[in-house]
Amino acid sequence: MFIKKGLARVIENSRREKTIEISLKTLKGTFIASAPSGKSKGKHEVADYNERGIVWSVKLINQFLEKLTHKNLSIRRIQDLEILDKSLHDFEHSFGKIGGNARYTLESVILKAAAKEDRKELWQFVHDSIGSGPVKMPMPVGNCIGGGLHSVGIKGKKPDFQEFLLIPNEKRFSTAVTKNIHAQNYAKKLVRRKNKVLFLKRNDEGAWNTGTTNEETLDILKEVADKFNLRIGLDVASSSFCNSQGYYPYKNKELFRDRLEQVEYMKNLIEKYNLFYVEDPLNEEDFSGFKELLAQVSGKKTLIAGDDLTTTNLKRVERAVKANSINAVIIKPNQIGSLLEVMKVVDFCKKNKIKMIFSHRSGETMDNAIADYAIGFGADFIKTGIYGPERLVKLRRIMQIEKEIF
Ligand code: PGA
Ligand code: ZN
Repeated sequence: MFIKKGLARVIENSRREKTIEISLKTLKGTFIASAPSGKSKGKHEVADYNERGIVWSVKLINQFLEKLTHKNLSIRRIQDLEILDKSLHDFEHSFGKIGGNARYTLESVILKAAAKEDRKELWQFVHDSIGSGPVKMPMPVGNCIGGGLHSVGIKGKKPDFQEFLLIPNEKRFSTAVTKNIHAQNYAKKLVRRKNKVLFLKRNDEGAWNTGTTNEETLDILKEVADKFNLRIGLDVASSSFCNSQGYYPYKNKELFRDRLEQVEYMKNLIEKYNLFYVEDPLNEEDFSGFKELLAQVSGKKTLIAGDDLTTTNLKRVERAVKANSINAVIIKPNQIGSLLEVMKVVDFCKKNKIKMIFSHRSGETMDNAIADYAIGFGADFIKTGIYGPERLVKLRRIMQIEKEIF
């Protein structure tokens, strides 16, 4: 692929924070990629940008892109990103790190251009590169009601848990998406009634912002799920409220749980509400707490997923799987800042039958590449939210691919 021009710049994400966008011009067209950003980040995620900030990263990438300009870059498979990796490694050695968000964006825009070169869609390029068998559609994991760090402007009572999720089980992705949209609209009535307010706000991910306790919110979620025949789940995001001594100080209701009590509480919630999916039920360092919970719920088919625990980092995913801490994992390419690393994590998960949930971040852009990566890498689920342009653009992309191939 012949590179005519490349340019990185700063844009704003859905939260009006600065993020990076790269455009790349080749003989086949102009391609654009950008990076999302998290609010409840895992401690083990790579740094987003150079230590001097995003503007410095942009400057570095532009310097690096200049080196690629008017040259041929041979990227025929995703594995060929190694070529880029090598020259980036040398470049960073002399000029400093560009950061995970910058690297992911650079790799992503190059893959978009490389796919076009091969007359393939991005998902197809990835799928063919890794030879991952028949194409399958992931199921959506939709963020219906929010709490925790994602709550906006609620002073008093609010859920400690971050995301209350709806997970359809349908043959078609498009049917599943429609169900989630209707279900979230129905949830609005119930949340409004319980909050005793006329107008409800949505949080960054388009989930209802609620002033109810964890269990009041779960009661609502269950009622919605029963009406629409959906499975339900939680992103506890427990590292965001676990304290430095490893205790879980709950605000709603006020209770101080130690790690074993937290395991017990999670197990009880799984039983009481028939939870299909629980993400980060324990602190991001507590591999053995995860293990205890998984052992207690095995046989129920509940998915116990790592996000802050694993941070799309192969070493941490391997450790969690070998320790029997998880049976599912969140994959966010910018947590590790490399699609080559994502490929290794995917390979490991497939070999070990670990369910993969490709995920957006709370601060998003209009880039829909995560949809292609979810299909290309053979994800079981995609977590994108249910509402808002940055979320819908990803859901629509999967619906479009589904329409074309099934
Ligand atoms: P983040 O959270 O994108 O704000 O980090 C999402 C999640 O924890 O899954
Ligand atoms: Zn999470």
